[in-house]
Amino acid sequence: MKIGILGSGIVGRVLASAFLSESHSVMLGTRNITKEDVIKWQNENPGGLLGSFQETAQFGEVIVLAISGLAAEDAISLAGHEHFFEKIVIDATNPIAAVPPENGVLKFFTTLEDSLMERIQQILPDARLVKAFNSVGNAFMYKPKFPGGTPTMFICGNDEDAKKTVTEILTSFGWETEDMGRAEAARAIEPLCILWCIPGFTRNQWTHAFKLLKM
Ligand SMILES: NC(=O)c1ccc[n+]([C@@H]2O[C@H](COP(=O)([O-])OP(=O)(O)OC[C@H]3O[C@@H](n4cnc5c(N)ncnc54)[C@H](OP(=O)(O)O)[C@@H]3O)[C@@H](O)[C@H]2O)c1
Repeated sequence: MKIGILGSGIVGRVLASAFLSESHSVMLGTRNITKEDVIKWQNENPGGLLGSFQETAQFGEVIVLAISGLAAEDAISLAGHEHFFEKIVIDATNPIAAVPPENGVLKFFTTLEDSLMERIQQILPDARLVKAFNSVGNAFMYKPKFPGGTPTMFICGNDEDAKKTVTEILTSFGWETEDMGRAEAARAIEPLCILWCIPGFTRNQWTHAFKLLKM
C-alpha cells in the first residue's frame, strides 16, 4: 500500500521505516524536509520519499497521523482536508497538554467525555479513523520482543473495514490487536499513554507494553 506519514518526529520516522520494511511505499511528510533528523532518515531509508504535509496526504492510500496532539488541527489543515476523503487514517496521536507531568502523570487537554480522535473525526467526517500505536513507546512499535509474549495494541474506530486493514498491519508489525469498538473508546485508549509513561517519568523505566489477558 501507499502510506503517507504526517509528522517527522520520532514516531513518524519509526513508523515510516517499519512500513518500508514491510514493503509498502512510504512518504514521510514534514513542514521542513531540510531538518537534520529528516535528512538522516532519508539517508538510512533510501527507498522512502519525503514530501510536504499536502503531498504526503495526497500520496497516502493510508495516512498516519504522527503529529503533536496540540498541532493536529493545524497539521491537518496544512495537509488539506480533501486529501483524507474516505481514506484509512491511523491516529497515533495523544492529547498531551503543554504543561509538565504531575508526579509522573501527564496532563491531557481533553476530558474523559471527549478524545482527540473524536475531535479529528469531526474535522474529517469522511475519513476512516483508527486509533493505534498511541499506547506504547516508539522503540516498541515495530516487531516488539518481550519475554512476556506478544503485546496488545488497543484500537478503535467507526469503520469496520478500516479496522480490519489496521489489524493486518499490526499483525505484520508483531502485535496482537484488541478492537475496543467505536471512536468513543478513544476516551479510554488515549489515557493509556498516561499510564504507560508513569514508570518512565518516576523510575526511568520505559521498556514495557500492555497485554490483555483473557480466559
Ligand atoms: N514519542 C513516542 O514514543 C510516542 C508514542 C506513542 C504516541 N505518541 C504520539 O505520537 C505523536 C507524535 O509524537 P512524536 O514524539 O513523534 O513527536 P512530537 O514532538 O509530538 O511532534 C511530531 C511532529 O508534529 C508536527 N508538528 C508540531 N507542531 C506543528 C504545527 N504547529 N503544525 C503542524 N505540525 C506540527 C511536526 O512535524 P514536522 O516537524 O515534520 O513538520 C513534529 O515533528 C504525538 O501525538 C505523541 O503524543 C508518541
